Amino acid sequence: MEPVIVARSAVMRARLALAARAAASDVTVLVTGESGTGKELLARAIHAGSAAAARSLVAVNCAAIPEALLESELFGYRRGAFTGAHGDKPGLVAAAAGGTLFLDEVAELPLVLQGKLLRFLQDGSYFPLGAVRPLAARVRVVAATNADLRRRVAAGAFRPDLYYRLAVLPIHVPPLRERPEDIAPLVRHLLARLHRPGAPAIELSPAALAYLEAQPWPGNVRELENAVARALVVCSGRVLTVDDFRDAAGAPPPADGADWTLPAGGVDLPRLVRDLVATALERTHGNLSAAARLLGLSRPALRYRVKKYRLERGRGPRAATG
Ligand SMILES: Nc1ncnc2c1ncn2[C@@H]1O[C@H](COP(=O)(O)OP(=O)(O)O)[C@@H](O)[C@H]1O
Ligand SMILES: [Mg+2]
Repeated sequence: MEPVIVARSAVMRARLALAARAAASDVTVLVTGESGTGKELLARAIHAGSAAAARSLVAVNCAAIPEALLESELFGYRRGAFTGAHGDKPGLVAAAAGGTLFLDEVAELPLVLQGKLLRFLQDGSYFPLGAVRPLAARVRVVAATNADLRRRVAAGAFRPDLYYRLAVLPIHVPPLRERPEDIAPLVRHLLARLHRPGAPAIELSPAALAYLEAQPWPGNVRELENAVARALVVCSGRVLTVDDFRDAAGAPPPADGADWTLPAGGVDLPRLVRDLVATALERTHGNLSAAARLLGLSRPALRYRVKKYRLERGRGPRAATG
């Protein structure tokens, strides 16, 4: 299924046209833009619109895989390459053969691997760990980054030859605040997606739309999605109002810290932690295991904080009664 990309602004429509042309060829594409602008969505659309659409798109987040594992994840290994390598294992490059390899956060690729990726981009060959002969695969690469790769090159952290090889066709996705015309259709798209069958349709008041269009959206479309989802929770009628968004904004930051931006005025971290722990306990009715899961903590780590912030049931001001 082709991913739906909402684009009313001229700038986004131009980017989509570029992406459609990229899809029709098999060039390497570099998608740049802030976090949450829709880079991955665009990469998926390029794959879906390409001749390789029936083959796999394999997504790799270069920042999420430990450096020591990334090479074997990407290129695989031969039996005996290291202790525990009991058989050959194909890598993600092999899994993407004939299709698309999406390299997310490509700026985080370690320098050694940058050289190996460059070779692969140049002639389609690569060495699994421990292999003496190279393997070959035809793979279209779409890379994405929210970093300024040229700056990384200037700083010696990114190979210039790889940069030029990746940036054959650069597509920059502008931040949401530079294309406020996209907000109304995006919200409509989100409301339709979140709508439950049988439930009354929810609309956005004109004032709420103006309010949303005036926000800076540092987390871009992802942040807008979260804001709409939260507003739907606090909304009591059939129309989302400015207050619904304001009230919902008091909720804790999204769990995925990668997309949470430090406010210009800073935060009171101990207080934030205490509030998050209290909220998690409240939401799970004091169930420590469930609360620990919500917070990404171990039970002992959570228990330590519960004690430290005096949030034991029946003691804290937020403790549930009964
Ligand atoms: N133009 C768009 N139309 C519809 N949904 C979008 C659009 N741009 C982003 N999104 C949605 O916003 C979220 C973040 O997009 P994503 O592609 O993961 O951003 P990035 O990779 O740049 O961080 C996803 O849920 C995505 O589906
Ligand atoms: Mg992303």
